[in-house]
Amino acid sequence: MDGRLAGRTAIVTGTARGIGAAIARAFVLEGAHVTGVDVLEEAGLETGEAIVAAVRSAGTGGSFAFVSCDVSDEAQVRRTVAAVLAAHGRIDVLVNNAAVQKEALAADVTVEDFHRIVDTNLLGCVLFCREVLPAMVRQGTGAIVNMSSVNAFSADPLLPVYGATKAAIIGYTKSVATAYGPHGIRANAICPGDVDTELNRAFFAAHDDPAAFRARVEHEYPVRRIASTDEIARIAVFLASDDASFVSGSEIVVDGAITARIYEL
Ligand SMILES: NC(=O)c1ccc[n+]([C@@H]2O[C@H](COP(=O)([O-])OP(=O)(O)OC[C@H]3O[C@@H](n4cnc5c(N)ncnc54)[C@H](O)[C@@H]3O)[C@@H](O)[C@H]2O)c1
Repeated sequence: MDGRLAGRTAIVTGTARGIGAAIARAFVLEGAHVTGVDVLEEAGLETGEAIVAAVRSAGTGGSFAFVSCDVSDEAQVRRTVAAVLAAHGRIDVLVNNAAVQKEALAADVTVEDFHRIVDTNLLGCVLFCREVLPAMVRQGTGAIVNMSSVNAFSADPLLPVYGATKAAIIGYTKSVATAYGPHGIRANAICPGDVDTELNRAFFAAHDDPAAFRARVEHEYPVRRIASTDEIARIAVFLASDDASFVSGSEIVVDGAITARIYEL
Protein backbone atom coordinates (compact mmCIF):
# COMPACT_ATOMS: atom_id res chain seq x y z
CA MET A 1 0.00 0.00 0.00
CA ASP A 2 1.47 3.39 -0.99
CA GLY A 3 1.11 6.05 1.65
CA ARG A 4 1.37 9.79 1.09
CA LEU A 5 5.02 9.71 2.23
CA ALA A 6 5.98 6.36 0.70
CA GLY A 7 9.75 5.98 0.45
CA ARG A 8 10.47 9.47 1.81
CA THR A 9 13.27 9.93 4.34
CA ALA A 10 12.39 12.15 7.29
CA ILE A 11 13.97 13.52 10.45
CA VAL A 12 11.59 14.42 13.27
CA THR A 13 12.88 16.02 16.49
CA GLY A 14 11.40 15.44 19.93
CA THR A 15 9.86 12.02 19.18
CA ALA A 16 10.08 10.48 22.66
CA ARG A 17 6.55 11.62 23.46
CA GLY A 18 3.77 14.08 22.67
CA ILE A 19 3.30 15.68 19.27
CA GLY A 20 6.70 14.49 17.96
CA ALA A 21 5.83 10.86 18.72
CA ALA A 22 2.46 11.25 16.97
CA ILE A 23 4.11 12.86 13.92
CA ALA A 24 6.75 10.11 13.70
CA ARG A 25 4.06 7.43 13.92
CA ALA A 26 1.84 9.12 11.32
CA PHE A 27 4.79 9.56 8.94
CA VAL A 28 5.85 5.92 9.26
CA LEU A 29 2.26 4.76 8.71
CA GLU A 30 2.27 6.88 5.52
CA GLY A 31 5.33 4.93 4.35
CA ALA A 32 8.20 7.23 5.41
CA HIS A 33 11.57 6.15 6.79
CA VAL A 34 11.78 8.28 9.91
CA THR A 35 14.74 9.04 12.13
CA GLY A 36 13.40 10.33 15.42
CA VAL A 37 15.66 12.29 17.74
CA ASP A 38 15.31 13.19 21.39
CA VAL A 39 17.32 13.74 24.56
CA LEU A 40 15.12 11.22 26.42
CA GLU A 41 16.87 8.06 25.30
CA GLU A 42 14.82 5.43 27.14
CA ALA A 43 11.47 6.97 26.24
CA GLY A 44 12.68 7.58 22.69
CA LEU A 45 13.57 3.92 22.24
CA GLU A 46 10.29 2.77 23.81
CA THR A 47 8.23 5.04 21.58
CA GLY A 48 10.23 3.79 18.62
CA GLU A 49 9.39 0.18 19.44
CA ALA A 50 5.69 1.03 19.61
CA ILE A 51 5.91 2.77 16.22
CA VAL A 52 7.68 -0.20 14.65
CA ALA A 53 5.01 -2.54 16.07
CA ALA A 54 2.23 -0.32 14.69
CA VAL A 55 3.71 -0.19 11.20
CA ARG A 56 4.33 -3.94 11.20
CA SER A 57 0.67 -4.65 11.87
CA ALA A 58 -0.45 -1.97 9.39
CA GLY A 59 1.96 -3.28 6.72
CA THR A 60 2.54 0.17 5.23
CA GLY A 61 6.27 -0.23 4.58
CA GLY A 62 7.76 2.66 6.55
CA SER A 63 10.50 2.36 9.14
CA PHE A 64 11.66 4.11 12.31
CA ALA A 65 15.09 4.54 13.92
CA PHE A 66 15.84 6.46 17.09
CA VAL A 67 18.93 8.61 17.63
CA SER A 68 19.81 10.19 20.95
CA CYS A 69 20.56 13.82 20.11
CA ASP A 70 20.33 17.20 21.80
CA VAL A 71 19.00 19.57 19.13
CA SER A 72 20.86 22.50 20.69
CA ASP A 73 24.24 20.79 20.33
CA GLU A 74 25.88 21.68 17.03
CA ALA A 75 28.16 18.62 16.89
CA GLN A 76 25.34 16.20 17.74
CA VAL A 77 23.04 17.68 15.11
CA ARG A 78 25.79 17.49 12.49
CA ARG A 79 26.49 13.84 13.39
CA THR A 80 22.80 12.92 13.31
CA VAL A 81 22.21 14.44 9.87
CA ALA A 82 25.41 12.84 8.51
CA ALA A 83 24.27 9.44 9.82
CA VAL A 84 20.85 9.77 8.16
CA LEU A 85 22.48 10.76 4.88
CA ALA A 86 24.91 7.83 5.14
CA ALA A 87 22.02 5.43 5.75
CA HIS A 88 19.48 6.77 3.24
CA GLY A 89 21.40 9.01 0.84
CA ARG A 90 18.78 11.76 1.08
CA ILE A 91 16.52 13.73 3.44
CA ASP A 92 13.09 14.62 2.07
CA VAL A 93 11.42 15.97 5.18
CA LEU A 94 12.59 17.71 8.34
CA VAL A 95 10.24 18.39 11.24
CA ASN A 96 11.64 20.66 13.96
CA ASN A 97 9.33 19.84 16.84
CA ALA A 98 11.50 19.56 20.00
CA ALA A 99 10.94 22.40 22.46
CA VAL A 100 10.91 23.30 26.13
CA GLN A 101 9.05 25.92 28.10
CA LYS A 102 9.23 27.32 31.61
CA GLU A 103 6.74 29.54 33.30
CA ALA A 104 8.05 32.87 34.58
CA LEU A 105 6.91 36.46 34.36
CA ALA A 106 9.16 38.67 32.23
CA ALA A 107 10.61 40.25 35.39
CA ASP A 108 11.69 36.82 36.65
CA VAL A 109 13.35 35.26 33.59
CA THR A 110 16.83 33.95 34.36
CA VAL A 111 19.65 34.03 31.83
CA GLU A 112 20.00 30.25 32.27
CA ASP A 113 16.34 29.63 31.40
CA PHE A 114 16.52 32.10 28.51
CA HIS A 115 19.40 30.16 26.95
CA ARG A 116 17.81 26.75 27.54
CA ILE A 117 14.55 27.82 25.90
CA VAL A 118 16.11 29.73 23.00
CA ASP A 119 18.80 27.11 22.37
CA THR A 120 16.30 24.25 22.25
CA ASN A 121 13.39 25.90 20.48
CA LEU A 122 15.15 28.24 18.05
CA LEU A 123 18.81 27.28 17.75
CA GLY A 124 17.82 23.59 17.45
CA CYS A 125 15.59 24.43 14.49
CA VAL A 126 18.28 26.62 12.91
CA LEU A 127 20.97 23.94 13.30
CA PHE A 128 18.87 21.14 11.81
CA CYS A 129 17.79 23.32 8.88
CA ARG A 130 21.37 24.37 8.24
CA GLU A 131 22.55 20.76 8.17
CA VAL A 132 19.78 19.32 5.95
CA LEU A 133 19.47 22.20 3.45
CA PRO A 134 22.57 21.34 1.39
CA ALA A 135 21.23 17.79 0.84
CA MET A 136 17.78 19.12 -0.06
CA VAL A 137 19.36 21.59 -2.51
CA ARG A 138 21.31 18.74 -4.16
CA GLN A 139 18.09 16.72 -4.45
CA GLY A 140 16.14 19.72 -5.75
CA THR A 141 13.32 18.89 -3.35
CA GLY A 142 12.50 18.98 0.35
CA ALA A 143 9.85 19.92 2.90
CA ILE A 144 10.55 21.54 6.26
CA VAL A 145 7.91 21.77 8.96
CA ASN A 146 8.70 23.88 12.02
CA MET A 147 6.58 23.70 15.15
CA SER A 148 5.52 27.16 16.28
CA SER A 149 2.49 27.87 18.48
CA VAL A 150 -0.45 30.24 18.87
CA ASN A 151 1.85 31.76 21.50
CA ALA A 152 3.67 33.36 18.57
CA PHE A 153 0.86 35.92 18.23
CA SER A 154 -1.40 35.48 21.28
CA ALA A 155 0.52 35.93 24.48
CA ASP A 156 0.65 33.81 27.58
CA PRO A 157 1.79 36.18 30.35
CA LEU A 158 3.85 33.40 31.93
CA LEU A 159 5.67 32.30 28.78
CA PRO A 160 7.46 35.41 27.45
CA VAL A 161 10.61 33.69 26.15
CA TYR A 162 8.79 30.60 24.87
CA GLY A 163 6.38 32.87 22.95
CA ALA A 164 9.30 34.86 21.57
CA THR A 165 10.93 31.69 20.21
CA LYS A 166 7.67 30.62 18.61
CA ALA A 167 7.29 34.03 16.90
CA ALA A 168 10.92 33.86 15.77
CA ILE A 169 10.31 30.44 14.23
CA ILE A 170 7.65 31.90 11.94
CA GLY A 171 10.01 34.63 10.72
CA TYR A 172 12.81 32.13 10.27
CA THR A 173 10.53 29.71 8.38
CA LYS A 174 9.45 32.44 5.95
CA SER A 175 13.08 33.33 5.26
CA VAL A 176 13.97 29.69 4.52
CA ALA A 177 10.90 29.36 2.27
CA THR A 178 11.83 32.43 0.24
CA ALA A 179 15.54 31.65 -0.05
CA TYR A 180 15.17 27.98 -0.94
CA GLY A 181 11.90 27.97 -2.90
CA PRO A 182 13.88 28.16 -6.18
CA HIS A 183 15.57 24.88 -5.15
CA GLY A 184 12.25 23.03 -4.79
CA ILE A 185 12.23 23.31 -1.01
CA ARG A 186 9.10 24.26 0.94
CA ALA A 187 9.10 25.47 4.55
CA ASN A 188 6.04 25.98 6.74
CA ALA A 189 5.18 26.41 10.40
CA ILE A 190 2.36 24.86 12.42
CA CYS A 191 0.79 26.93 15.20
CA PRO A 192 -1.17 24.66 17.52
CA GLY A 193 -3.35 25.81 20.37
CA ASP A 194 -3.31 23.63 23.49
CA VAL A 195 -2.58 19.98 22.78
CA ASP A 196 -3.03 17.10 25.21
CA THR A 197 0.65 16.28 25.88
CA GLU A 198 3.14 15.91 28.71
CA LEU A 199 4.24 19.53 28.23
CA ASN A 200 0.69 20.74 28.74
CA ARG A 201 -0.16 18.30 31.54
CA ALA A 202 2.87 19.65 33.46
CA PHE A 203 1.52 23.16 32.84
CA PHE A 204 -1.92 22.14 34.21
CA ALA A 205 -0.27 20.33 37.14
CA ALA A 206 1.48 23.52 38.21
CA HIS A 207 -1.91 24.95 39.22
CA ASP A 208 -3.67 24.37 42.56
CA ASP A 209 -6.46 22.26 41.07
CA PRO A 210 -5.09 20.80 37.78
CA ALA A 211 -8.40 19.20 36.73
CA ALA A 212 -10.38 22.40 37.31
CA PHE A 213 -7.72 24.45 35.55
CA ARG A 214 -7.74 22.10 32.56
CA ALA A 215 -11.56 22.34 32.40
CA ARG A 216 -11.26 26.13 32.40
CA VAL A 217 -8.73 26.04 29.58
CA GLU A 218 -10.91 23.69 27.54
CA HIS A 219 -13.91 25.96 28.06
CA GLU A 220 -11.91 28.88 26.65
CA TYR A 221 -11.87 27.10 23.28
CA PRO A 222 -14.89 27.73 21.06
CA VAL A 223 -14.78 23.98 20.26
CA ARG A 224 -14.73 23.36 24.05
CA ARG A 225 -11.70 21.07 24.09
CA ILE A 226 -7.99 21.00 23.40
CA ALA A 227 -6.39 19.13 20.50
CA SER A 228 -5.17 15.54 20.37
CA THR A 229 -1.61 14.91 19.18
CA ASP A 230 -3.00 13.11 16.10
CA GLU A 231 -4.86 16.26 15.06
CA ILE A 232 -1.51 18.08 14.84
CA ALA A 233 0.28 15.10 13.25
CA ARG A 234 -2.25 15.08 10.39
CA ILE A 235 -1.32 18.68 9.54
CA ALA A 236 2.38 17.75 9.56
CA VAL A 237 1.66 14.86 7.16
CA PHE A 238 -0.20 17.25 4.87
CA LEU A 239 2.64 19.83 4.89
CA ALA A 240 5.29 17.16 4.33
CA SER A 241 3.39 15.53 1.46
CA ASP A 242 2.82 16.50 -2.16
CA ASP A 243 -0.76 17.45 -1.19
CA ALA A 244 0.88 20.71 0.02
CA SER A 245 3.00 21.17 -3.12
CA PHE A 246 2.11 24.90 -3.42
CA VAL A 247 2.06 25.62 0.33
CA SER A 248 5.25 27.35 1.46
CA GLY A 249 6.16 30.21 3.74
CA SER A 250 2.89 29.73 5.62
CA GLU A 251 1.92 29.36 9.22
CA ILE A 252 -1.01 26.99 9.66
CA VAL A 253 -3.06 27.79 12.75
CA VAL A 254 -4.61 24.67 14.33
CA ASP A 255 -6.38 26.03 17.38
CA GLY A 256 -10.10 25.23 17.58
CA ALA A 257 -10.82 28.93 16.85
CA ILE A 258 -9.35 30.25 20.11
CA THR A 259 -7.35 33.01 18.41
CA ALA A 260 -10.31 33.90 16.16
CA ARG A 261 -12.31 35.28 19.09
CA ILE A 262 -11.79 38.57 20.92
CA TYR A 263 -13.79 37.62 24.04
CA GLU A 264 -16.81 35.62 25.11
CA LEU A 265 -19.58 37.38 26.97
N1 LIG B 1 1.38 20.81 23.85
C1 LIG B 1 0.90 21.96 23.45
O1 LIG B 1 -0.14 22.42 23.92
C2 LIG B 1 1.59 22.74 22.36
C3 LIG B 1 0.95 23.87 21.84
C4 LIG B 1 1.57 24.62 20.84
C5 LIG B 1 2.80 24.21 20.36
N2 LIG B 1 3.41 23.12 20.89
C6 LIG B 1 4.71 22.76 20.36
O2 LIG B 1 4.69 21.42 19.89
C7 LIG B 1 5.98 20.83 20.06
C8 LIG B 1 5.88 19.55 20.85
O3 LIG B 1 5.30 19.83 22.10
P1 LIG B 1 4.79 18.68 23.06
O4 LIG B 1 3.63 19.22 23.79
O5 LIG B 1 4.68 17.39 22.36
O6 LIG B 1 6.03 18.65 24.10
P2 LIG B 1 6.62 17.49 25.00
O7 LIG B 1 7.37 18.14 26.11
O8 LIG B 1 5.57 16.51 25.36
O9 LIG B 1 7.63 16.81 23.98
C9 LIG B 1 8.75 17.52 23.51
C10 LIG B 1 9.86 16.53 23.22
O10 LIG B 1 11.03 17.27 22.86
C11 LIG B 1 12.13 16.69 23.52
N3 LIG B 1 13.22 17.65 23.70
C12 LIG B 1 13.26 18.71 24.55
N4 LIG B 1 14.44 19.31 24.48
C13 LIG B 1 15.18 18.62 23.56
C14 LIG B 1 16.49 18.78 23.04
N5 LIG B 1 17.31 19.75 23.47
N6 LIG B 1 16.90 17.91 22.10
C15 LIG B 1 16.11 16.90 21.67
N7 LIG B 1 14.86 16.71 22.12
C16 LIG B 1 14.40 17.56 23.07
C17 LIG B 1 11.57 16.25 24.86
O11 LIG B 1 12.42 15.30 25.49
C18 LIG B 1 10.22 15.70 24.46
O12 LIG B 1 10.29 14.32 24.12
C19 LIG B 1 6.84 21.92 20.73
O13 LIG B 1 7.54 22.62 19.72
C20 LIG B 1 5.83 22.81 21.38
O14 LIG B 1 6.31 24.11 21.57
C21 LIG B 1 2.84 22.37 21.87
